[in-house]
Amino acid sequence: MEYKGFFVLRLILCFVFSILHLVHGDLSYSFPEELNRGAVIGNVAKDLGLELGILSSRKARVDFERNRKSYCEINFNTGDLMTSERIDREILCAKRPSCVLKADLVLENPLELHRVTFHVQDVNDNSPKFRENFIKMEIRESAEKGARFSIEVANDADIGQNAVQQYVIQKNDNFILSLDNKKVELVLENKLDREKQKEVNLLLSAIDGGSPQRSGTVAIHVSVLDANDNAPLFSQPVYKTSLPENSPLDTVVVTVIATDADEGVNGDVTYQFGHASEDDANLFSINSKTGQIKVTGVIDFEEISSFEINVQAKDGLGLTSYANVLIDVTDVNDNAPAIYLKSLSNPIPENVPPGTEVGIINVQDRDSEKSQQVRCSIQQNVPFKLVPSIKNYYSVVTTGKLDREIVSDYNITISATDEGSPPLSSSKTVHLSVADINDNPPVFEEQSYSAYVSENNKAGSTLCSVTAQDPDWRQNGTVIYSLLPGEVNGAPVSSYVSVNGDTGVIHAVRSFDYEQFRSFKVHVMARDNGSPPLSSNVSVSVLISDVNDNYPQILYPTSEGSSFMTELVPKAAHGGSLVSKVIAVDADSGQNAWLSYHIVKSTDPGLFTIGLHSGEIRTQRDISESDSMKQNLIVAVKDNGQPPLSATCAMYLLISDNLAEVPELKDISYEENNSKLTSYLIIALVCVSTFFLTFIIIILGVRFCRRRKPRLLFDGTVAIPGAYLPPNYADVDCTGTLRSSYNYDAYLTTGSRTSDFKFINSFYSFKPSFLFFPCQEHCQYIFLNLKCLR
Ligand SMILES: *[C@@H]1O[C@H](CO)[C@@H](O)[C@H](O)[C@H]1NC(C)=O
Ligand SMILES: *[C@@H]1O[C@H](CO)[C@@H](O)[C@H](O)[C@H]1NC(C)=O
Ligand SMILES: *[C@@H]1O[C@H](CO)[C@@H](O)[C@H](O)[C@H]1NC(C)=O
Repeated sequence: MEYKGFFVLRLILCFVFSILHLVHGDLSYSFPEELNRGAVIGNVAKDLGLELGILSSRKARVDFERNRKSYCEINFNTGDLMTSERIDREILCAKRPSCVLKADLVLENPLELHRVTFHVQDVNDNSPKFRENFIKMEIRESAEKGARFSIEVANDADIGQNAVQQYVIQKNDNFILSLDNKKVELVLENKLDREKQKEVNLLLSAIDGGSPQRSGTVAIHVSVLDANDNAPLFSQPVYKTSLPENSPLDTVVVTVIATDADEGVNGDVTYQFGHASEDDANLFSINSKTGQIKVTGVIDFEEISSFEINVQAKDGLGLTSYANVLIDVTDVNDNAPAIYLKSLSNPIPENVPPGTEVGIINVQDRDSEKSQQVRCSIQQNVPFKLVPSIKNYYSVVTTGKLDREIVSDYNITISATDEGSPPLSSSKTVHLSVADINDNPPVFEEQSYSAYVSENNKAGSTLCSVTAQDPDWRQNGTVIYSLLPGEVNGAPVSSYVSVNGDTGVIHAVRSFDYEQFRSFKVHVMARDNGSPPLSSNVSVSVLISDVNDNYPQILYPTSEGSSFMTELVPKAAHGGSLVSKVIAVDADSGQNAWLSYHIVKSTDPGLFTIGLHSGEIRTQRDISESDSMKQNLIVAVKDNGQPPLSATCAMYLLISDNLAEVPELKDISYEENNSKLTSYLIIALVCVSTFFLTFIIIILGVRFCRRRKPRLLFDGTVAIPGAYLPPNYADVDCTGTLRSSYNYDAYLTTGSRTSDFKFINSFYSFKPSFLFFPCQEHCQYIFLNLKCLR
């Protein structure tokens, strides 16, 4: 009846508790021990109302307290909670009336914890067992009716109903069984008579209440002796004591004392342990003479917090009695907190915003009470902190921006300290890498680049090289160079230069001509290989320098028809009078276009000089009657380049005041000694020319008469052919160098419609009529008026 009432009460309590658990959103499962591996004990998906997919995506798992091995696992396909190994309640909980395993059901992202309680129910898998198979007793025949003899109880590892419930003794004449307060005693009902029966054999069975029932049996052999005596008697039935864990070996725990009223052998008490598990028996020893119990092993509060040891005292004649020793182990702060890394995102991209959770840690301390309180921190100067989460879980969270280009990996040391005294601490280092994001564009080493190249360079020659740096990782930091599209003088830049995509070296695609252009600008882009790529660009100025590659060009006197270009020198010219001027230009610039004039050969070396830089030909002294009428000069024009280039021309001068002498001019250039041959040639030429002229005049006369339209015979003036004028007219300077542009400007700006201007027009035209024009004064006038117009 008592048992039944207790059972009902327990049922009600259980019911109330499970309702409470549900209310708190916690899970509670109850299942028998010794299930096969993989047995289903519940369905967490159903119980938590979660969809099946969520279990795996949120890494659902069951963490047992103290990070013990896992007894259960979750089947993500069905949501079933299954045992992952056989669970033996007797190993886990020994004699404790309720065997409860506590665990956390952990879901990540976000972290969510559910308390899970597993009640392991007992199964009747152990039989009652006596310590020995055979008990020997000696009882005096003088023992009175009603005398009691203790028998050691049988042990059953199971609990509750499954533990020993009753004892049964084989039917016999002398003894009955007495069960009182869990003490088993043989009670003498009929006095023994040694003369009738020297020994009595009995069978005692212990039976448990499980289903099916199990039982254990001991044989009791009673020798009937002639006399009577007393059993030893313990000073107290239960010895209670406490023992700090980690007590050194041989520490005395307690001393038990039993006394026996008898004398001699009958009063000699020896002690030994009664029922004890093997583990317990190895931790303590009892001195059989003194009853002193000592420590012989390592006492660990975290393993076993209390011991209950049965002690037997036995006198010389084999009478025994029993007492219990209860040892409470007290906790000492001997366990440092343990830090477990539960999850970690590694590597983390460098662009995660501050406050991103990168990992979860769990801290546990096996000690109890204060020694179990743990504080956790990150000490170093790293951009991470710990945010306390549920219970003793912490999130590792970034506190600032990360930059892989500055710090690419972190060793985060997490330390945990408990509040025991003295406190214990431990630390754990978590290695975290930062993954690259393409967040840096390539940067050129210089703001802009200039390349200097001499004109007439070879196509393909190197001009310069540009370099850009990108600190990103691998392809995010790989720089590729290219030309930005653009135009130079109307042509695409790619027809001028090219850039090597890998090295940034810029090559000329063609040969440059300083006389065409002196500089141009291109833009080079550096792009990395990320996706999307980042780029920057830089301007590269290509500056072309001049090379002395143009010969001076003599505009006057022209080389064609040179034999006809003749200057008249008045006979009365004084020393220093300007006679003529050599006009030359050079398409180069600077020193390469700085011209100097020299007379290299002359009929009368003392008569004429030429201005070194002006090219003006002057008489050196007064003309005298004795001077030859025909004078010719060979003038060299030389530029100042390295090496210098030069050109020569011939100038024919006629000292005469009279145009009538002109026909003789043709002879001027000829040497006296071969005049006979040349005379013939000249006569022939004059004849042909005269004939030709006459013919033309006749034809023109005829046409003129018919149309009656007045027309100037050789009126159309021909401008100086473009070929004479180099392309860089626009750049006129006053460096004292006489350049083509100098002259050209002079022509264009002599704006008044004077005869001089007209003259100059005809002066450079190629008309036979002009060649014989007496131009001395005009020439002088024009030349003196040449001036720099800028
Ligand atoms: C982190 O620790 C590892 C191993 O101890 C070491 O090789 C590495 O250099 C450390 N990194 C930093 C950033 O301290
Ligand atoms: C480059 O950057 C992108 C994002 O910008 C990233 O996804 C990729 O992993 C990076 N590559 C490397 C090699 O780190
Ligand atoms: C070149 O760089 C400048 C700034 O440095 C930028 O404004 C421009 O858009 C870039 N051009 C190209 C074609 O990328």
